[in-house]
Amino acid sequence: MNQETPILEVRDLSVAFGPLVAVDRMSFSAQRGHITSVIGPNGAGKSTLFNLVSGALRPGSGAVLFDGADITRERPDRLVRRGLSRSFQITNLFAELPVVENLRLAAQVLESPWKALLPTSASKRTRDRVEELVERFKLEEKRDERAGFLSHGEQRRLEIAVALAGRPRLLLLDEPTQGMSHGDTLDTAELIRQVAQEASIILIEHDIDLVMNLSDNVVVMHQGRKLAEGPPQEVRGNPVVQAAYFGTQVHAEN
Ligand SMILES: Nc1ncnc2c1ncn2[C@@H]1O[C@H](COP(=O)(O)OP(=O)(O)OP(=O)(O)O)[C@@H](O)[C@H]1O
Ligand SMILES: [Mg+2]
Repeated sequence: MNQETPILEVRDLSVAFGPLVAVDRMSFSAQRGHITSVIGPNGAGKSTLFNLVSGALRPGSGAVLFDGADITRERPDRLVRRGLSRSFQITNLFAELPVVENLRLAAQVLESPWKALLPTSASKRTRDRVEELVERFKLEEKRDERAGFLSHGEQRRLEIAVALAGRPRLLLLDEPTQGMSHGDTLDTAELIRQVAQEASIILIEHDIDLVMNLSDNVVVMHQGRKLAEGPPQEVRGNPVVQAAYFGTQVHAEN
């Protein structure tokens, strides 16, 4: 694939819930190797946009291109095999399972489907990936702990590891620092920077300092629509964005 082809391109994408147009003719591109942030007030349509891109929801109209290929209405499991992964705004772990099992389930996508018929001991690629992630995400001491017993910050860290386990080319992160302490937020920013070495990232985030520090490009959403798009400093200085977002933005919870 041509290196110039955006890793993700969204064209005129819309979806409505009854009378509410939650995503309204959204178009934007995310470049390969970049961190692209999507910001906007609560209810702007950011998570819904992720649901459309990741196949959890079907758009009413518009198209989604992943690495140049049309993936509109593709099933989520097929998208994962193609290399698109996501984390959720609400923690999405198997709380009853140990940390390593959460990672193993996610990393199994790396194996050929026929391996499912063999004992799990045959899945070397999966085991190696799990060990690598345990170390990288500093989960060694918690490896056999049930995910539900981890601290909030650890759970969110594990979630990023789970989303990364299958070696995606594109990773969608929905508010990975939500509810985190300042210290954990800084650590997570550093992790995201590292992860960006191996996957393109689209990040939904309310922490503006983090967005300004991490992003190559920022897309601003407001009432389902794109309000602005550009490099972080440019977007921050945009008077329309300031009026609609920075001026009134509250760090509200969901
Ligand atoms: N499944 C659904 N059914 C009906 N309405 C929905 C559904 N999902 C989202 N909405 C509505 O669509 C709008 C956009 O929601 P969305 O969750 O995408 O916002 P968001 O930008 O992610 O907000 P936040 O910053 O609070 O997470 C909201 O008004 C929300 O109530
Ligand atoms: Mg959301």
